[in-house]
Amino acid sequence: MQTEKMTRFGVSMPNRLLTHFDELISDKGYANRSEALRDLVRDYLVEREWEADEETVGTVTIVYDHHVKELADALTHIQHEMGTLIISSLHVHLTHTHCLEIIVVRGKSSEIRKMADHLIGTKGVIHGKLTAATIGSSF
Ligand code: NI
Repeated sequence: MQTEKMTRFGVSMPNRLLTHFDELISDKGYANRSEALRDLVRDYLVEREWEADEETVGTVTIVYDHHVKELADALTHIQHEMGTLIISSLHVHLTHTHCLEIIVVRGKSSEIRKMADHLIGTKGVIHGKLTAATIGSSF
């Protein structure tokens, strides 16, 4: 892969803010400020992509008890209804009772959010989280 041309620029920042930024860099294990700053900008751009309702990707993670009556059927039903959004899914039998499911989704962010809310809000789902990612074509 060809490396994209980089531009150096100076950044002025209040000392206190810079101290917090350096703490964050150290906690997260970044090699330097530039790498940390690039990631922050990318995060911000991804957030904007999701706000603009563009086509994007994400994952929905849910943990549930498959012994809860009709829950597994309800979750499967939601996924079949929204079939065109789903790229892939992974099911892990965590314990005798609990299952973890990771659903990879691609589509308009509003549609993804709607399905994620529906899954996470289903009675009996113990934990659920939507992670916003990006197709990455703009960076
Ligand atoms: Ni299972």
